[in-house]
Order: sequence, then structure tokens, then C-alpha cells
Amino acid sequence: MNVLVIGGAGYIGSHVVKEMIKAGHSVTVFDNMSSGCEENLFADAGFIKGDILDPVTLSQTFAAADYDAVVHLAAFKAAGESMLKPEKYSVNNITGTLNILNAMCDADVKKIVFSSSAAVFGEPEKLPIDEDHPKNPENYYGFTKLEIEQFLGWYEKLKGMKFAALRYFNAAGYDIDGDIKGLEQSPANLLPVIMETAVGMREQLQIFGDDYDTPDGTGVRDYVHVTDLAVGHVMALNYISKNNESLIVNLGSENGLSVMELLEEARKISGQEIPAEVVGRRAGDPAKLVASSKMAKEKLGWEAKYSDCETLIKTSWDVYKKKAEELLG
Ligand code: WQD
Repeated sequence: MNVLVIGGAGYIGSHVVKEMIKAGHSVTVFDNMSSGCEENLFADAGFIKGDILDPVTLSQTFAAADYDAVVHLAAFKAAGESMLKPEKYSVNNITGTLNILNAMCDADVKKIVFSSSAAVFGEPEKLPIDEDHPKNPENYYGFTKLEIEQFLGWYEKLKGMKFAALRYFNAAGYDIDGDIKGLEQSPANLLPVIMETAVGMREQLQIFGDDYDTPDGTGVRDYVHVTDLAVGHVMALNYISKNNESLIVNLGSENGLSVMELLEEARKISGQEIPAEVVGRRAGDPAKLVASSKMAKEKLGWEAKYSDCETLIKTSWDVYKKKAEELLG
């Protein structure tokens, strides 16, 4: 298929591009490079620098080639920031997505794979979290993702669009073959923060609370390797094409890892001290989030293969270590 990957120069997007090419698709990346990086672009994929807030460039893009499908990963994703700057999230995440959907309608492109999030669920009422779990987003970011899932449902009903909304749990790790090396800028997520501390870009890791009701007191999350996530996009696109049926599905490893477990493994693999101090809990953080990915297995045949603690850390450390060596000459 001829696939336009919007946000394809970013952290998850670049991994999706790689797996799409590997599966034999022809790929063009559309990215405004606000958080994507050139290092993440593949020679085998086309590239269009453009913004989803610019409907003219979007319609020119769709007019210039015959795309069969869109993968849309262009969004702001910092949950904390979304509570302080909801306008930014309304415009980019919601208006930007509507611009994409409308440009797709004009160009008669009927398939989209959309990056949704476990943030649509909010505070867990039961574990593991399956697709039917109540949706009560705790932050505005999660609200934008839930809204977009609903727009997708309406565009399906009214315009015959088929979609896959993939609810990512905690994306982590780096390409399993080491082909993707662009680091995320100013990350707030746990694993890149641990890595930045390991290479000396940060002085220490702050552990947000060690008094949770979890085995070691630190927060437990479902970390899913970014290569596993990327493969999930390829499978989801195949599914909606073959079955002509939309899909909303969780992508998680079904395995909970604590902050302490990741930190200890990172210390072991990197051989670095990685200084850390326990500080107060971060507002809005639940103790434990773990996915049920039963539906992904049943419908897509998808299972996390690389999401064990060691592989998550090792693939990240390889990238951060090399980058630190380059920077230090
Ligand atoms: C993980 C754990 C922290 C940083 C976020 C988004 C969510 C989804 C995934 C996209 C928690 C602890 C973290 C640090 C720490 N994104 N932590 N020190 O909050 O589970 O989820 O990313 O859809 O919407 O909210 O991820 O990586 O920030 O935190 O102790 O410096 O690490 O308290 O237990 P989170 P995270």
C-alpha cells in the first residue's frame, strides 16, 4: 500500500516507518519537524515537510499522490503540560486531526491508523485494563485522544472511513536492530530520563514517590517496546484493509514494571551509578497501570515480543551510549 505517515520523523513514528517499509509498503513521511528529527528519516521513504494545521499543504499532499492509507502520530503528548496549556492541545491534536480527516475525505482516502493512548482510561477501576474499561481521562491530553476516537467513529458512519485506534500504554526502548538513533528532546518519561542521567545529561533521577501500594512502593506501568508498537501498526492496517472493519485496541505488554525495577536494570546494563532521589508523588499518577492485550492477540495476532525489562533498557542504552560518545568526541 501507499502510506502517508504523519509524524513519521518522531520517536514512535520513525519506528512505524521502518516496520511499514519492512512489510513492503511504500511510505511517505509528513512531519513539521517540531519534535521529529532528520536523523530519523529513512532514505527509502519520501519526505514532505508540512504542518497538520495547514490545510492547503495537506490537500496538496493528498492531490500529489495516490495514498491508500494514513498513519497519524502527530500530536503533543505531555499529559502534565496539557493541563496547563489546553489550547495548544485543542488546536494541534483536535483541529490538526480534523484537518487530516477532512483532507482524506476530499481525496477519497478511506483508511487511517491513529495513535490513541491508555490516557483515555484515567484512574484504573480494575486491572488489567481492557478495551471496555470506563473512559474517564485524568488529563486534557487523554481527553483529546478520546474525542478523536469519537470523531473517527462518526467519520466511519458518515463517510465510510475505516480506522484503527491504537491505545498505547508506555512506549519505551529503541529499534531492535539499532537503526533508529534520534533522541527525544526534553523528555519527561521515565526511561529517557533514566538514560539521560546515565550519560550525565542530568544530575539525578527523581523518583516520584515510593509509598504506593506496589511491591517496592514505586509506580508500576506497562512498558511496551516501540518495535512491538510499530509492528502493531502494520498488523492494524492489514486488519482494517482485509476485514473492512474498524478497530479500537490496546497495545500493552500485560506486564507491570516498577520505577525501581527499571532503574536497577539500567544500572546493571549501563554499569553507571545513575543517582536517584525519592521525591513526592507526581500529581495524577496512579499506582499501577497494566493492559489487557487479549483483543490485540485475538484480532491481530499481535503480542509484545521485545517488551521485557532487559530489552527495553538494552536497546535504549545502546542509543544513548553512542550519542554520548559522539558528543564527547
Ligand atoms: C512512568 C512512571 C512516574 C518520570 C505518560 C502519559 C501517558 C502515556 C505514557 C502517551 C510513573 C515515574 C517518571 C520521572 C519517575 N503517553 N517517573 N520519575 O505518566 O505513566 O504515562 O506516558 O500516550 O498518557 O501520561 O509515564 O514515563 O511519565 O512515568 O519516577 O522523572 O515513572 O511517576 O510511575 P506515565 P512516565
